[in-house]
Amino acid sequence: MKIQSVKGTRDFYPQEMAVRNWIIDGWKKVSLRNGFEEYDGPIFEYLKMFQIKSGEEIAEQLFSLTDRGGRELALRPEMTPTLARMVNQRINSLPRPIKWFSVPRLFRAERPQKGRLREFFQWNIDIIGEDSVLADAEVIFTTIDYLREAGLTSDDIVLKISSRKMLAAILGEIGVPQKNLDSLYAVLDKKNKLPPETFEKMLNEHLPNSAMADKVRQFMELEDIQQVADKFGNREDVSEYLELMAYLDQMGIGAYCRFDPSVVRGLAYYTGIVFEVYDKASELRAIGGGGRYDNLLKDFGGPAIPATGMGMGDCVLEILLREKGLLKKQLPKVMWDYFVAYVDDDYKDKAVEVTMKLRSSGFSANFSYKSAKLGKQLKQASESNAGKCVIIGEEFKDNKLVIKDMATSQQSTINVDEFFSKLDLD
Ligand code: HAM
Repeated sequence: MKIQSVKGTRDFYPQEMAVRNWIIDGWKKVSLRNGFEEYDGPIFEYLKMFQIKSGEEIAEQLFSLTDRGGRELALRPEMTPTLARMVNQRINSLPRPIKWFSVPRLFRAERPQKGRLREFFQWNIDIIGEDSVLADAEVIFTTIDYLREAGLTSDDIVLKISSRKMLAAILGEIGVPQKNLDSLYAVLDKKNKLPPETFEKMLNEHLPNSAMADKVRQFMELEDIQQVADKFGNREDVSEYLELMAYLDQMGIGAYCRFDPSVVRGLAYYTGIVFEVYDKASELRAIGGGGRYDNLLKDFGGPAIPATGMGMGDCVLEILLREKGLLKKQLPKVMWDYFVAYVDDDYKDKAVEVTMKLRSSGFSANFSYKSAKLGKQLKQASESNAGKCVIIGEEFKDNKLVIKDMATSQQSTINVDEFFSKLDLD
């Protein structure tokens, strides 16, 4: 029986694993330099935790199970509920503000498509305990800091910003009943993901009349913050956005960011500034997104503590980096410090011994299981980007080795003891 891999999952052969590691190493490096500390939680949690506040869409996409003790569990579809639970659990002993990052493996039973899978990795950065817009700006800066580190520029990506506070207030002014807001957000979030007729139909289903739907659409199509101010007045949420933009300009990333009221976010818990990063050509799904969620800790039974954060998956990011040729250019090659070649089987044991001694001294070293022709072994060494080749042959009878520098092709003969005693100096 031939067993297939499960739909929406990936196998990471060494080549793919190298890409995954490179992406995750970049996320970790940038998190640390921006002052975030790493945390993690369990891969499964109580099912109800993901049903409370994430919203219908996530709840429908859960991989859930009942354990042998009858507990209803789910594989985590996102990290934010786990973070809220963990912070609440130790709220009195954790120094604030909390600036944490994590790279969880997540699971969502979505329809697999370009950039969306059922199992993926997601970089999370969150700041808890700080209500100023400077914290939102820092989350956005860290997001762009990574994307720039990966080689993307403002010609490749755009970070679209809006405000849930502004949206909620304007929807209220338009006359949308408060109780409809949560389900309406999920619809509005789909504006740029669905064909216009389908969106239109869903919007009409969620609103009492088409005049209201027209007004909502008009707001979402505004192009800059001035238009909001002109149409809806100079309001607190407009000045909050302007304050954020001033910080982003000061931080040197203003060129990456722009106002876009069609950004809503699919998750139900956002309360303030929200944002999403896209490829500039708008051909792919969102690379990442986040925003402020000031009520989540309270909703999870903790104190009212403000929070803001961001999640970025590895799938769309990888597609974009590949399209831009940035993976090929930057992916570190396999590199061995030494390749130990031997001229015939008589020297095989010695080659094994020298290899193990090199490894025990902290160098990466490899050898061939079969005594292939020396030329073939040297080719293997060069294909593996070995820095140096140790050649074991006739000279070994006089306790000597030949060392070939693979970059310069220069060869020298050296006494075995001297070679090992000089290793640390190389
Ligand atoms: P989200 O918008 O659901 O937010 O996901 C953030 C990012 O995760 C997406 O933009 C995408 O890159 C990636 N992602 C989501 N679903 C999939 C999927 N099925 N396959 C591949 N990648 C996917 C959140 O999850 C929030 N918890 C983020 C957050 C953290 N907000 C505040 N702190």
